[in-house]
Amino acid sequence: MVPDLNYLMRIARQAGQILMEGYLKQHEIRHKGRIDLVTEMDSRSEEYLLSEIRRDFKDHTIVTEESGLIEGVQEHCWFIDPLDGTSNYAHGVPVFSVTIAYAFHGAITLGVTVDPTRNHCFSAERGQSAFLNGQPLHVSATRELVDAMLATGFPADLHDPAKNNLENFSRFLMSAQSIRRLGSAALDIAYVAAGWLDGYWEIGIHPWDIAAGTLLIQEAAGLVTDVQGEADFFKPPYSLIAANPHLHAKMLAMLQMADTR
Ligand code: IPD
Repeated sequence: MVPDLNYLMRIARQAGQILMEGYLKQHEIRHKGRIDLVTEMDSRSEEYLLSEIRRDFKDHTIVTEESGLIEGVQEHCWFIDPLDGTSNYAHGVPVFSVTIAYAFHGAITLGVTVDPTRNHCFSAERGQSAFLNGQPLHVSATRELVDAMLATGFPADLHDPAKNNLENFSRFLMSAQSIRRLGSAALDIAYVAAGWLDGYWEIGIHPWDIAAGTLLIQEAAGLVTDVQGEADFFKPPYSLIAANPHLHAKMLAMLQMADTR
C-alpha cells in the first residue's frame, strides 16, 4: 500500500497542531551537541507521526531526525523532521515547520512542509506541480545574483572548519542582494519553491530536512543539485543548492570557488 498526498498533509498538519500546543511554553531542552537542541515537543510530534505511519504502513522504512532509521522494506521510505527549526522554537521565534516526504523505489514522490504558525501547507506530488494551500507554486524569475534574495543555514557541527559555510556566506553576502538565515531549512526551500526567495544552499544538511523541499522545487520548475552540481544529490554527504534555473548555475559557480566538501 502507498500513501497519498492528502495523507501526508493530514498528519503534517496534525503534528503542527501538537507543536502549537507547546509553543511559547516552558520546554525540557536536551543538548544533542554543543548547539544542537532537542525539546520534548520534537519527541511528541515525532511519536505522533510514527504512530500514524506505523499503524497504516507497517512494513515501510522510516528515517527520522530523532529516532534515526526504522528499518522496513526498502521500496517504501519516509523522511521525517517532526520539528525543523528547533532552536527557533525553543527561543520562541515563530519560524519552524513539520516536513515529511515519501519515496517509492528511491524516488521522492510526495512531499509536504507545514508551517503551523501561518497555516502554510506546501505540498507536491511528482508530476503534479507544487502548491501552497491549494495555490500553484512557481520559482522566481530573478536572473542575476545582485537582484537575488538567498537563504542558507549552518550545521550543528559548524565548529568543524570544513563545514562552517562561512567562506560561502561572505562570498554570497558580497554578491547577492541579501541573505537570510531563517533557521528552518524546510521553510527556506519551500520559500524558494514559492518564489519568495530566489535560491538556497547548505552544506552538512540532513536528508529529513531537505527531502520534501527537493520535490517542491522540482515541481515548481526550479533546479536542485548538491553543491558539486550533481543531479544525483540525495546521498551522503548531503548538501543542496535549490534555486530558479537562471540562478542555479551562478550559485554553483560561486560555491565551487570555495571548499565545500
Ligand atoms: C536545522 C534547521 C537549520 C539548518 C540546520 C538544520 P533542526 O534543523 O533546518 O535551518 O541550518 O542544518 O539541522 O535541527 O532545527 O531540525
